Amino acid sequence: MIYFDNAATSWPKPPGVAKAMVHFLDQVGANPGRAAHRRAVESGRIVYEAREKVARLLNCSDPLRVVFGQNVTEALNLALRGMLRTGDHVVTSSVEHNSVMRPLRALQRQGVDLTVVQCSPQGFLDPGDVEAALQPNTAMIVLNHGSNVMGTLLPLREVAAIARQHDTLLLLDAAQTAGAYPLDMQADGVDLLAFTGHKALYGPPGTGGLIIGERVDLERLEPLKRGGTGSRSEWEEQPDFLPDMYESGTVNAVGLAGLEAGVSWVLEQGVAAIRAHEVELAKRVISGLCSISGVTVYGGLDAELQTATVAFNISALLPSEVGLRLDEEYDIMCRIGLHCAPAAHRTLGTFPTGTVRFGLGVFNTAAEVDDALDSVRSLAAEAR
Ligand SMILES: Cc1ncc(COP(=O)(O)O)c(C=O)c1O
Repeated sequence: MIYFDNAATSWPKPPGVAKAMVHFLDQVGANPGRAAHRRAVESGRIVYEAREKVARLLNCSDPLRVVFGQNVTEALNLALRGMLRTGDHVVTSSVEHNSVMRPLRALQRQGVDLTVVQCSPQGFLDPGDVEAALQPNTAMIVLNHGSNVMGTLLPLREVAAIARQHDTLLLLDAAQTAGAYPLDMQADGVDLLAFTGHKALYGPPGTGGLIIGERVDLERLEPLKRGGTGSRSEWEEQPDFLPDMYESGTVNAVGLAGLEAGVSWVLEQGVAAIRAHEVELAKRVISGLCSISGVTVYGGLDAELQTATVAFNISALLPSEVGLRLDEEYDIMCRIGLHCAPAAHRTLGTFPTGTVRFGLGVFNTAAEVDDALDSVRSLAAEAR
């Protein structure tokens, strides 16, 4: 079996992940931050350790700025709905995931002004177009760091510099890049970084969060929900300090135990080594697919300018048919269709049927790539 669906959720996980989760359930179990007994203290320590590891990986100045939630979707909703008000202007790109587009469209109906900057048909974004879209009331620029459709990397540092020059905030959707691509919140100039635990951080589903940079005004960032935090129980108002202000309700401590193990594994391997391996795999996939007659590959066709996610189609076959046959006849798991990103597919010209997507991860090998290329070659030859 070949698993090429890492852009959706990474699999397998490093061995320590399941072990940490089983340990938590069997040996710890208690609610973090809600009591003073030993088990609760240990649970709180594990959650803090996860915060500390995420902060270290992404170079955030203070682990308490890491606010945990269910996934990147929740984190993006917190940043967008918590920050933007009627009369504000927000700029985004035409390759965003619906986790950005849908909250933005809803905010637009409530009077937030939205500009979607068009990317090239290869999925590249010109920073000059972002700068030209800014207005005096632009409160935020939102960027998908690495496209989940064809892997294209957007120009983070250039856009961050523009955000600073124009005194606006940069929110980064790092769903596809956190853990897979070198990311340094401070050097890259990210104000709000949304991440998900179950992709390249190698944690379980149900984990993710928002990292809140120092330029963000907490008085302005409204929580998505309010409730019990275990802190300041005498107050009927929401705590006004991090991370409790944005972390109401019992956190997914068992999931965070797994996330801590996943991020520790990434730190041990080193993001540079992970990236180097994935670049080699992406090069092999891109050049292999480009050599097959009847196959169209999308994006910049340069592994250095993208993640290890590659989109393609076989002429005369629908992506759905290719995906089904790869699964049933060749034991290859990938994802087809629109990948929750219709705007990105409109940009590529692949809307509404979409593409086949090979989402490679750190555990994939060159031999698996070669097997998959043989399978695509057979399907393409049959379709001719
Ligand atoms: C770029 C991007 N943003 C947002 C998401 C949503 O992720 P989650 O389902 O973990 O919230 C994904 C996942 O596919 C993604 O790739």
